[in-house]
Amino acid sequence: MKTFKKVVFWIFVSFAIIQFIPVDKTNQPINKSVNFIDVKKSPPKVAALLKNACYDCHSNETVYPKYAYIAPFSWSVKDHINEGREHLNFSVWSSYNKELKESMLKKTVQTLENKSMPLPAYIIYHEDANLSDADRKVLVKYFEEIIETKSY
Ligand code: HEC
Repeated sequence: MKTFKKVVFWIFVSFAIIQFIPVDKTNQPINKSVNFIDVKKSPPKVAALLKNACYDCHSNETVYPKYAYIAPFSWSVKDHINEGREHLNFSVWSSYNKELKESMLKKTVQTLENKSMPLPAYIIYHEDANLSDADRKVLVKYFEEIIETKSY
């Protein structure tokens, strides 16, 4: 029993200590002249869907949820955001070259169709991101049109 109490005590202490490890949550400023939604003048419906379901991890407009302030969850959130932005950052869309844009659009369509995005764990706390089949169709149609007309 004594050891058990010690273990619990040290778990609490470690939990308290890790809260002091800083996680950078500052967003880079938004430049509308390179931001996907602004550059493409996306229709309001599309813009809303993207902002609700994708922009937290794929833009510099991340809105951090409450659990992002508690370690170790904060680390996992930040990891997803860093990784998400690395793959695709809508906030810097115009800085991508044609090949990258085309490949990202195609991958976006794929992830929407196979429902691998938004990340399933994210949907649990973000109801707005739980895209219906109709929402996915709207987005797929929108992105496919851009691919077909090569207007990336
Ligand atoms: C909770 C964070 C999060 C959200 C929300 C999110 N993504 Fe992602 N996304 C990631 C991460 C992390 C990766 C990189 C790892 C991976 O592919 O699973 C990624 C990768 C991608 C890729 C690149 C895949 C590749 O093969 O290079 C595309 C495209 C993508 N996401 C599209 C979307 C779209 C579209 C949405 C909204 C419908 C969305 N994501 C929402 C975190 C997120």
